[in-house]
Amino acid sequence: MGLGAMSELRLLLVEDSESDALLLLRELRRGGFEPRWRRVETAEAMLEALRDETWDAVVSDYSMPRFAAPAALALLKESGVDVPFIIVSGTVNEEIAVDSLKRGAADFISKGKLTRLVPAMRRELAMAAEHRERRRLEAQLRQSQKMEAIGQLAGGIAHDFNNLLAVITSYSELLIDGFDEGDPRRDDVHEIRRAAERATSLTRQLLAFSRRQVLQPTVVDLNAAVRDLERMLRRAIGSTIEFEAALDEDIGRVRVDLGQLDQILINLAVNARDAMPGGGTLRFATANVTLGDEHTVEYPGAVPGDYVAVYVSDTGVGMDADTRARAFEPFFTTKAVGKGTGLGLSTVFGIVQQSGGHVTVDSVLGRGTTFRVYLPRIAERDDPESVGGGAG
Ligand SMILES: Nc1ncnc2c1ncn2[C@@H]1O[C@H](COP(=O)(O)OP(=O)(O)O)[C@@H](O)[C@H]1O
Ligand SMILES: [Mg+2]
Repeated sequence: MGLGAMSELRLLLVEDSESDALLLLRELRRGGFEPRWRRVETAEAMLEALRDETWDAVVSDYSMPRFAAPAALALLKESGVDVPFIIVSGTVNEEIAVDSLKRGAADFISKGKLTRLVPAMRRELAMAAEHRERRRLEAQLRQSQKMEAIGQLAGGIAHDFNNLLAVITSYSELLIDGFDEGDPRRDDVHEIRRAAERATSLTRQLLAFSRRQVLQPTVVDLNAAVRDLERMLRRAIGSTIEFEAALDEDIGRVRVDLGQLDQILINLAVNARDAMPGGGTLRFATANVTLGDEHTVEYPGAVPGDYVAVYVSDTGVGMDADTRARAFEPFFTTKAVGKGTGLGLSTVFGIVQQSGGHVTVDSVLGRGTTFRVYLPRIAERDDPESVGGGAG
């Protein structure tokens, strides 16, 4: 065996003969694979295996007393599990082989030529990995295009609405001033103005999402911002939730609108609270990070460079993949009517993007969630407080 590391292989074997399975496994081990395997010989058992575990590849005999490769292949396709399906058959029949490949089998290998198995497996695994990566990038691109389109739409509407609401608010005020103190119509117009104000606050969040709001960035120390907010955050999360801060004292400064930064931190904290109805821990951490190309490949739209990161983690209910994928969309909420607006994270998303940063989320259902907000670190020489190199 070579000196290279063994590569682990989660292998589902569709094979009725135990000894043939062992031969196959021996061949794979000789080729540098370390198979973790399960053998099935019926459709039911295969279905169960596909449902219960994650596999890298399926190797199937062609015909078995109770099952056959075409049915196994159909079953694999139907289950939506996208892994290579290699047929290893005792009988070789060109017509059957060609037909199998047409139906989507990755390869057709004769039991008499088992030496073909290892190179075929390597090739198919590499292709499958490439395929998965391409699909992931495509999904990411679709997602960012979707966010862009929603942003354009929401921003356009919000902008026009804001202008109309300004008219309603200012005329309401004129009317109120025109009525005597005791006039009941005064209260009516007050109601109109209050409704317009609520609508204005909604449109403001939409403008934030679509990066169309007017920001007033200043040079900010994120640690100081977290500390200043701490009391109000503790109040917001209640006493059943533990508050932790792990602030790195060496972080650089960022340029951000302080009011909007507070909005980001509050929105994330409130979501964390909602995710921990039975209590838990909310943790804020800060760090200097330098993001390289590998990060930007994973998070399209992210630019390589120096950042200050704020991590907001909770030990709450977490999100499933679907929720995670849509969490930043405006109006996406899993909360009951009246409980959630679905605008918290879209506001975070918009503010962070408009500030030249980006935000990512990691979440495991039942375990908790971490949001990572990256804001561009300003170069030392641009930091007014470090000019002159004096103490500070
Ligand atoms: N910390 C978190 N833990 C679990 N799920 C979360 C968390 N933060 C956000 N979510 C999910 O993302 C959705 C959207 O969040 P958000 O935009 O703030 O809207 P809202 O809080 O009004 O529902 C939430 O409804 C929830 O499903
Ligand atoms: Mg929220």
